[in-house]
Amino acid sequence: MSERSSGLASGRVERLLAQLTPQEKLGQLTQYFFFGRAVVDDTDPEQAQWVDAALSRGEVGSLLFLRTADETNRMQRLAIEGNRLGIPVLFGFDVIHGLRTVFPVPIALAASWDSVLIERVQGVAAREARAVGIHWSFAPMVDIARDPRWGRMVEGAGEDPLLASVVAAAQVRGLQGGKTVTDGHVLAGPKHFAGYGAALGGRDYDESDISDQQLWNVYLPPFQAAIEAGAGSIMSAYMDLNGVPATGNAWLLIDVLRKTLGFTGFVVSDADAVRDLTTHHFVASLSDAGVVALNAGLDMEMAKVDAAMGHITPADVDIERLDESVRRILEVKEALGLFDRPFVDEDAAALILADPTHRDLARQAAESTAVLLRNKGVLPLRECDVKRLAVIGPMADSRRDTLGPWVFAYDIDETVTILAGLRARLDGHAEVAFAPGVGFDERTYPSFFADHGPSTPDGFDSEVESARAVDIAQAADVAVVVLGERQDMVGEYASRSSIELPGNQLCLLQAVVATGTPTVLVLLNGRPLDLRWADRNVSAILEAWYPGTRGGEAIANLLFGDASPAGKLPFTWPRTVGQVPLHYAATRGHDPNRQDTRYWDETSTPLYCFGHGLSYTRFEYSDLVVETPEVQRDGKAVVSVDVTNVSERAGVEVVQLYLHQRYGTSSRPLRELKAFERVELSAGQTKQVHLEIGPEGRRYWSAATRDWVLDSTRFDVWVGTDSQATLHAEFTVL
Ligand code: BGC
Repeated sequence: MSERSSGLASGRVERLLAQLTPQEKLGQLTQYFFFGRAVVDDTDPEQAQWVDAALSRGEVGSLLFLRTADETNRMQRLAIEGNRLGIPVLFGFDVIHGLRTVFPVPIALAASWDSVLIERVQGVAAREARAVGIHWSFAPMVDIARDPRWGRMVEGAGEDPLLASVVAAAQVRGLQGGKTVTDGHVLAGPKHFAGYGAALGGRDYDESDISDQQLWNVYLPPFQAAIEAGAGSIMSAYMDLNGVPATGNAWLLIDVLRKTLGFTGFVVSDADAVRDLTTHHFVASLSDAGVVALNAGLDMEMAKVDAAMGHITPADVDIERLDESVRRILEVKEALGLFDRPFVDEDAAALILADPTHRDLARQAAESTAVLLRNKGVLPLRECDVKRLAVIGPMADSRRDTLGPWVFAYDIDETVTILAGLRARLDGHAEVAFAPGVGFDERTYPSFFADHGPSTPDGFDSEVESARAVDIAQAADVAVVVLGERQDMVGEYASRSSIELPGNQLCLLQAVVATGTPTVLVLLNGRPLDLRWADRNVSAILEAWYPGTRGGEAIANLLFGDASPAGKLPFTWPRTVGQVPLHYAATRGHDPNRQDTRYWDETSTPLYCFGHGLSYTRFEYSDLVVETPEVQRDGKAVVSVDVTNVSERAGVEVVQLYLHQRYGTSSRPLRELKAFERVELSAGQTKQVHLEIGPEGRRYWSAATRDWVLDSTRFDVWVGTDSQATLHAEFTVL
């Protein structure tokens, strides 16, 4: 049943609007943090009391960070009783990759290239959230990220506008259950509008300088897709975009977001981003910050304490402008059914959180998102060959790191680590020995949420521990080495100036490989790492990301071939940080035959290209045919290709189509992903796959005309297994 407002209900909104005082209206536009019990044990009783008091004075329209049914019910009661009109509050939360059931991190979900899976995952996340009284998720993060130094790359869908758009739309559909929020679902809040991923040097919160052509062609399309999928809210970004703070930028929030992209929902600021208008030295006072943000098109302020909205003198705001925002917020509350059903059933919530089908989906998602980066015949492991397995690495048995960043309501006890997954998988068949080998130096890594994984335990002797790791590797038939970044080294406020494996992990890997025991490297991380040594010396590398609640079970299934890796990289994997930014959709420059040797000390090619991902199955591509050699300017080009599974087991392949425009109003990228399809093929099976490129896939924003153009020109097409596909064809647009 849809929860969108009925005509009758909107009468209620208008009646309320007529009764609210300007001060109460500003209260509706205020959202406060309520940490309470939300973040581990970081209870702040003072702030909790402060929020309680603000609620019972009716000064709050929304709260974020509540995560249990009893707490949302308690606060809702306070809110309703606290304002004379009984208006309920809206509860928002960062439900980024699950609530109780934790799914693989967003960058991993993007690596599945599977919109059906992503929609199901976010559907389950929404179901759990709604059950405990959360109405709105600050997800998906749809910021394009092309610089792995930026820690928040883990929260998005990578570098490519088309893939990111497909993933954004799937997440919105999953969270909301449709274009409007349906029963058991939550409002989606794509973020951070716009250009946050282009932070200079990858330093979180630093300014973004983005040319118009990059903004329209690269950074805005995922927002457009999320809006078209019906996203009900959008979060404005922290940083300066081309010198104007995004949260006070009327051009961005009105002209672009509403007038051009057609957004009709409400805009919330990022946390304290309205106050930040003073930090940016953009406005003189907190009250000016509130007025400027409202006039720039903001509807709700997210604040830690002391919101700018509370400082505004009503005479300083245009009442029609204020009413417009308040109406949007009240309509959302009504559409979500909050006036009629403000509370949740706490017993029902407990049952939903415990639903075993959610955990099954978490395992399945972790299997579908892993990317096999390299395999020199070691994988899949065979049970009969592995009588002694060595599992090595500081995160191999870390439950917190298995879950990844941006989760708060998980059950740590049910989290399956890679060690636990392998032990369960081999129970009774093989001996599994474990050694962490090295620890992490805690002082080096500030933790944003003070919620990190294992620190080096007291009395940890690196020399003894790494020697023990080498011993168990020596005695084993196979070594599985689990390395990467502790989960608090990625995410917000977690940029890095290097992409090397932190700490002494590379030395540990080198020592294990030196034993001669076949070694598989499993990575837990959220961005590309410098794997030059590993790629030359380790037999197999499996990118597991942060795989979630049932991650260890999924990784064991993948290593032993019960499941087959099918993930594909959603970003270009550089060799070294010196190449950054490196993305495949670059344009062709002078001396193109030497485009790969632009540095004298390192090749300028990636270590693994965008779209790369191996499988236990081999696929062959043939008979690429352009069915429409000549296409009208508003017409569709159609190509077909045969894909054959030439191995003896079933598998999944993501068939990718890349396009290049030969000449026109602008020079266009060497290649751009324009279509893809996931196909499941049984052993020996061939499927003909049809892919289409319509005018929307060929139009682009040109700095030459400062407008969208659709050129009459000639196109190259490549179809294959990754962005270096070689099967080529051409077509002309008349
Ligand atoms: C982040 C947002 C997040 C918000 C609320 C901010 O610091 O930038 O992405 O939704 O906090 O947790």
